[in-house]
Amino acid sequence: MLGLASAAPAGDGQAEFAVWTEDACQGRGVGSLLLRALLRRLAEQGTAVAIGIIEPGNQAMRRLVAKVAPEAATGHEDGMIVARIPLAGGPDGKHSTS
Ligand SMILES: CC(C)(COP(=O)(O)OP(=O)(O)OC[C@H]1O[C@@H](n2cnc3c(N)ncnc32)[C@H](O)[C@@H]1OP(=O)(O)O)[C@@H](O)C(=O)NCCC(=O)NCCS
Repeated sequence: MLGLASAAPAGDGQAEFAVWTEDACQGRGVGSLLLRALLRRLAEQGTAVAIGIIEPGNQAMRRLVAKVAPEAATGHEDGMIVARIPLAGGPDGKHSTS
């Protein structure tokens, strides 16, 4: 297995996502592919906002989100970085099925 991406409903049309790439395969675009595919799937299902909760020191995940979803709104909550990505299922979304 190269990696995994998952999402769970978080209420109000939102879903919380996570991405993981096998250590030996990191830095080769696997995480980007997985996150793009996951956001597309969530948008297809009508999710309005995808939420990623990221440890501040997790530079790889921060760069991944910044690259795949530059429109994400990020803030700090309870010592974590929270990235909110608007999807095609909501009013401001860009990650559509096309
Ligand atoms: C975050 C993670 C999924 C990224 O996966 P990946 O397959 O390496 O992602 P990509 O190859 O598509 O790279 C995406 C960006 O992250 C950057 N990146 C990858 N590994 C990095 C590292 N160790 N340090 C800093 N940046 C890193 C890449 O350079 C790329 O940014 P760029 O295009 O601006 O250069 C992976 O590091 C991982 O599984 N980490 C452990 C699990 C985790 O913390 N998941 C997040 C929980 S929400």
